[in-house]
Order: sequence, then C-alpha cells, then structure tokens
Amino acid sequence: MSKIVVIKGSDRKGGNSNTMADAFIEAARAKGHEVKEFNAAKMNLNGCHGCMTCFKTGKACSFDDDFNKIADDLLEAEGWVFSFPIYWYSIPGQTKCIIDNIFSFFVGGKDFKGKKVALISCCQESDMTVFDGAVKPIERGAKLCKWDMVGNVLVPGVDAVGDIAKTDGCAQAAALADKF
Ligand SMILES: Cc1cc2nc3c(=O)[nH]c(=O)nc-3n(C[C@H](O)[C@H](O)[C@H](O)COP(=O)(O)O)c2cc1C
Repeated sequence: MSKIVVIKGSDRKGGNSNTMADAFIEAARAKGHEVKEFNAAKMNLNGCHGCMTCFKTGKACSFDDDFNKIADDLLEAEGWVFSFPIYWYSIPGQTKCIIDNIFSFFVGGKDFKGKKVALISCCQESDMTVFDGAVKPIERGAKLCKWDMVGNVLVPGVDAVGDIAKTDGCAQAAALADKF
C-alpha cells in the first residue's frame, strides 16, 4: 500500500476538480492507500525566490511558508496527485507555487525519484489543447526528475459547480486509484 499526497487546487466548495479529487481519494483509501490531502488554494504559499538556500537552515524553504508544512509528506509519499482547474491555460498560481518549491528537493539533495504522479484537471472550454499549458510542464518535469506519470484525468467543458456530475470525470478519477 502506498502513501499518496493529493494537492487540490480550487477554493470552490463542491467544485469540479475537488469533486474528482474526492472520488480519487475515496477509491484510493478503499484500496488501502494512505492518502493525505492539502488544498493549495487555502494555503499561504509563495513562489520560489531562487535563493538556493533550501534545507540549509533546517527548513525546505528558507522563506518558511506553508510549503514547509507539506514538504516532509511530499518526500515520504510514493504518489503525488495534482488536482486543479485550468486558469489562463495553465496551472493555478497556488498549485504552481508548490510545484516551483519542489525545486527545493533538488537543491537540498533529496531523493525524490520514482514518484508516481497523476493529474486531475478540468476546464470550461471544450478543446483538449487547453490542458497543454498545465500538462506539458509537469510531464517534462517528470521526465527530468524521473517520476512515473501514471495517468491524467482531463475533463473539458465544465464550468459551474456541479457540472462535473454530467461527465464521467469522477468515474475516471476513481479508476485512477488502480494506477497506484
Ligand atoms: C481565474 C480563472 C481562469 C480560468 N481560465 C480558464 C481557461 O484558460 N480556459 C478554460 O477553459 N477555463 C478557464 N477557467 C474556467 C475553469 O477552469 C472552470 O470553471 C473549471 O470547471 C473550474 O473548476 P473548479 O470547480 O474545480 O474550480 C478559468 C476560471 C478562472 C476562475
């Protein structure tokens, strides 16, 4: 059984990406995985300052925001799931802050190879290329960091809270649990 960290990226209660993330979490826990979830949209997060002092002061990030509260969980987990809506054809800022600060594991010489990584995302437009600006950077980072991208659930055409129920997004997200 694996430890999995799920990073949610929407502040909308009952929103589309959170609902899919919850379907994943329920299925993963039913399989016996240990899942910890955090919501980036509710955390105090900043981008990377590029100071290169990561882990040198005893903390992952010397600027000491909420990334430090989840750094150990990220390092310990075998799996990471990033769940977020598309904002401006890309990853929402708060989620991107977490991804940028994962750079601290590099600088700090931590072993974070071999993570199983999956994405759960949704957007209002119906064109699948809307996801490119979110999926491509993470897939490229995965190649660099030797993570295993185990699956992406990408659901276009959802906007209002509740729209996800009209799609198979939650079923896809639950099925993603089989990949961990
Ligand atoms: C700031 C902002 C930017 C957005 N940018 C896009 C976009 O570039 N393309 C798109 O199709 N939808 C965009 N959307 C719509 C959301 O992706 C869509 O409503 C999604 O279903 C919201 O998911 P949530 O309920 O999980 O928050 C944007 C929404 C917001 C609030």
